[in-house]
Amino acid sequence: MLPPALAELYDGDLWIADACVYANFVSSIDGIVALEGGTAPSGGIISGRNEADRFVMGLLRAFADAVLVGAGTVRAEGGRALWTPDYIFPAAAASFSALRQTLKRDGAPRLVIVSARGELDPSSRALQDGALVLTTVNAAARLRGRLPNVTEIRAVSDTDRIDLQQILDLLEADGHHRILTEGGPRLFGQMVANDRVDELFLTVSPVLAGQKGDRSFGLVHGVDFGREPKQGRLVSVRRQGSHLFLRYRWEAAA
Ligand SMILES: NC(=O)c1ccc[n+]([C@@H]2O[C@H](COP(=O)([O-])OP(=O)(O)OC[C@H]3O[C@@H](n4cnc5c(N)ncnc54)[C@H](OP(=O)(O)O)[C@@H]3O)[C@@H](O)[C@H]2O)c1
Repeated sequence: MLPPALAELYDGDLWIADACVYANFVSSIDGIVALEGGTAPSGGIISGRNEADRFVMGLLRAFADAVLVGAGTVRAEGGRALWTPDYIFPAAAASFSALRQTLKRDGAPRLVIVSARGELDPSSRALQDGALVLTTVNAAARLRGRLPNVTEIRAVSDTDRIDLQQILDLLEADGHHRILTEGGPRLFGQMVANDRVDELFLTVSPVLAGQKGDRSFGLVHGVDFGREPKQGRLVSVRRQGSHLFLRYRWEAAA
């Protein structure tokens, strides 16, 4: 059960299974989640910095053992961003902390950044507090000594791409069982392609983003399921003003 203050803000109860890979996105009505080729801080723009959406982001982070993102999202969000519950919705910080105590989790969820090229700004706030960077042998060699000492750099691939299954296995081996992915459509696409997404929390914001060429894109980018789309199941629908909050489940996730 959610602590009462969170249940009141969420207008009901919410639970995330002990072992779960779940994603959170905000989309425009026309299905866009990433703007300007994925270089803009798109989520906040698309949601209109909506308070209810920020609360749900915080709540989902508060459940997580680890928050997984691709380096594209870290670069787009800029140096001030943090992937903690309190950063996105400070008003509920005490209640998020109560939830984490119930879950027997200390501190904030661990931020895990996946990068092949290793292009990360060492001064980013997100790198000052014990993040884990999963990267390639070559990029790790470049990053060592450049990133803050508290950031753990792990070379996990000698090619320019890290196997998605390996990423999730590593997190599991580190004791992270509730994994929230806030990565962008490139990382999410690989997760869906590997059938490794159990749940998706999708906010639909009442805006039309438009699209010209491939500068804006949807939830899944870089993979195409053709005539065999991945069938999900809608498990809850909520509404706050003109924003819709949808929760989907994929039973077949490995
Ligand atoms: N609307 C929303 O809710 C929402 C949520 C999240 C993100 N976004 C938006 O999405 C955009 C970013 O999109 P994106 O798809 O580029 O983000 P992303 O998936 O988070 O980042 C892509 C980058 O992650 C790294 N990466 C991904 N898979 C990898 C693998 N298997 N092995 C090694 N590295 C891997 C690569 O980094 P390197 O290039 O460093 O090698 C790749 O360029 C931004 O505009 C962001 O604001 C929106």
